[in-house]
Amino acid sequence: MDKRNKAALHMTWVKRAKPVLFVLCLLPVAQLAYAAYRGSLGADPVETLTYATGDWTLRFLLITLAVTPLRYLTGIRSLVQLRRMLGLFAFFHVCLHFLVYVVFDQFFGWRLILEDILERRYIMVGMLGFMSLLPLAITSTDKMLKRLGGKRWRRLHRLAYFAGGCGVIHYLWLVKSDYREPLIYIVILAVLLGYRVVRSTKERRKLQTTSINTI
Ligand code: HEM
Repeated sequence: MDKRNKAALHMTWVKRAKPVLFVLCLLPVAQLAYAAYRGSLGADPVETLTYATGDWTLRFLLITLAVTPLRYLTGIRSLVQLRRMLGLFAFFHVCLHFLVYVVFDQFFGWRLILEDILERRYIMVGMLGFMSLLPLAITSTDKMLKRLGGKRWRRLHRLAYFAGGCGVIHYLWLVKSDYREPLIYIVILAVLLGYRVVRSTKERRKLQTTSINTI
């Protein structure tokens, strides 16, 4: 099969996979909603909701960041089509996470929330992560991509690594004794970031040598 046919085939299955993936991505929140409906969120439902939405924010962020390396490793360029949806699911979960905190934890006490942000470092860094995901969600449309131009858009969307960094530090700082889970997330983020840095350094070097050779 030639390269063009292969790319078309990949494009078709990625297109087909999209609605399936969408339904799969809704499962965590559907499960939470069902548990809330049945009153089986455990002894501390607010804690359950906060932990579950926080965990899924981090998972979706890391899965989103894994799409580009996966695309390079497999050669399936159309995988990129799934990245926006996964990123928006990360944003959706962080909105839920924040909403649970504002409504059920702080009962809309904006002054207390502000104090909490200033006093507790893990809340401040979580807030930073949330704020850095905001421009990414706003500029996720094709229209915004066109308006910003590919280069600026890609530069802005590197903020996703910063948001991931804030997310893992937030988690590390809030745990009191068992650091295993946040450390696993930190290692995954470091591998993903390391891969991108090594690849873009190699690409820059290649570009420099070809431009030297053409002089
Ligand atoms: C990128 C942004 C964020 C990510 C990735 C994230 C992720 C997480 C994770 C993974 C947990 C722990 C879950 C567990 O123990 O299983 C958590 C807990 C928590 N998060 Fe976030 N979070 C973010 C932003 C925020 C923001 C903006 C707030 C509030 C302003 C917030 C408030 C909390 C609270 C109150 C807890 C529970 C702490 C405790 O009970 O010890 N998070 N978050």
